[in-house]
Amino acid sequence: MGKEEEIRKSGMIERTLVLLKPDAVERGLSGEIIKRFEQRGLKIIGLKMVVPKREFVEKHYEAHRGKSFFKPLVEFLTNKPVVAMVIEGIHAIEIVRKMVGPTQPSEAPPGTIRGDFSHVSGAYADKFQFVVKNLIHASGNKEEAEKEIALWFKPEELCEYKRVEDVHIFGW
Ligand code: PPS
Repeated sequence: MGKEEEIRKSGMIERTLVLLKPDAVERGLSGEIIKRFEQRGLKIIGLKMVVPKREFVEKHYEAHRGKSFFKPLVEFLTNKPVVAMVIEGIHAIEIVRKMVGPTQPSEAPPGTIRGDFSHVSGAYADKFQFVVKNLIHASGNKEEAEKEIALWFKPEELCEYKRVEDVHIFGW
């Protein structure tokens, strides 16, 4: 077995789904956010802009159906531009979540995407019935990532290619 095959079999090279929500797209932050993932050495293997329909967004957030924020959250993404991407890297699911920061922008530390580009608090959003504009979604775990990637991307939409960093990841 080749080294790369052995490493991939270990399951440490993960894929995760990231969505740049309409607030990120409308604020012109897509490039800035994508840049952060690229400069971290993570590999973008799928990328597209989509305008999802309500049923599709509901499917994506199905696990949250029934929660107070479900309807407004679905509404927020419905029929609006969303940038969807699949990111690959070592422990990518956890690394990307760390880069994104906590759900509430008011609690997100500087250096995280939410902490650098947003500041709204959940209390404010709830009181005035706004959706928390927290810019970005990233899969929470392996099971979620697999499900979400399959929902947003066809297998043929994912590209395999070498990044220069692969030399450092898979060896010479
Ligand atoms: S929970 O209840 O702990 O599972 O919720 P959480 O994981 O924090 O959030 C689930 C997704 O719902 C979004 N969220 C909200 N959106 C709008 N308004 C409010 N108040 C709100 N609370 C949570 C949160 O951002 C998560 O979506 P994604 O797209 O994954 O960030």
